[in-house]
Amino acid sequence: MKHSLPALPYKSDALEPFLSEQTLLFHHKKHHAGYVNKLNSLIEGTEYETMSLEHIILQSEGAVFNNAAQIFNHNFYWNCLSPVKTTPSDPLAKKISDVFGSMQKFKEEFLNAAVGNFGSGWTWLIMDQHEHLRIVNTSNANTPIVHSQTPLLTCDVWEHAYYLDYKNERLKYLEGFWEHINWDNVSKVYADKEHLNVIGLAGVVNNDPDDPMSDYLDELQHQEETSS
Ligand SMILES: [Fe+2]
Repeated sequence: MKHSLPALPYKSDALEPFLSEQTLLFHHKKHHAGYVNKLNSLIEGTEYETMSLEHIILQSEGAVFNNAAQIFNHNFYWNCLSPVKTTPSDPLAKKISDVFGSMQKFKEEFLNAAVGNFGSGWTWLIMDQHEHLRIVNTSNANTPIVHSQTPLLTCDVWEHAYYLDYKNERLKYLEGFWEHINWDNVSKVYADKEHLNVIGLAGVVNNDPDDPMSDYLDELQHQEETSS
């Protein structure tokens, strides 16, 4: 299958002043699109050509893995941001307070992890197979789904995500990120936790139409189809 660049779930200037339109356009139309184009050229005529993105991520390495995983990570990242203020659902807020002590402590831990994520990478809130919520850092293109972890929230800490607006001041970018988290989306993914625990990544890979998670995946697919 040919992979395509999903449209942003908001206008390219919708996150200003947190992220400028220039940052979003470069990030989306250059970096993210670059991974899509590169992957399509790499998989042409190979065993990966007919696989879903998630299948490729699970079964590849090297350049194919890097580009496929970066597509997945960016697809997920755009949906973690919102131009309007949102708040976590009650069950998610309770879970975060139970695990981290309070929402404020979770914020501190998440931002500290992101500040300390050396080099290029991603900072995530994930749920592991034992329903534990954890903050994890990954480097370069590495992604939680290859570690059987369900991503709930991610922040892109590659410099290309913020350098035009914040230069080397990653913490300022992170503070803006915190104010623009799409908690509606995080809560929605978290609400599927029982389903995700039972089927793990298999549900993502199979995309069973009877599966509740498929609504979310259908949305991502729809964005891909309607992208320019
Ligand atoms: Fe990025």
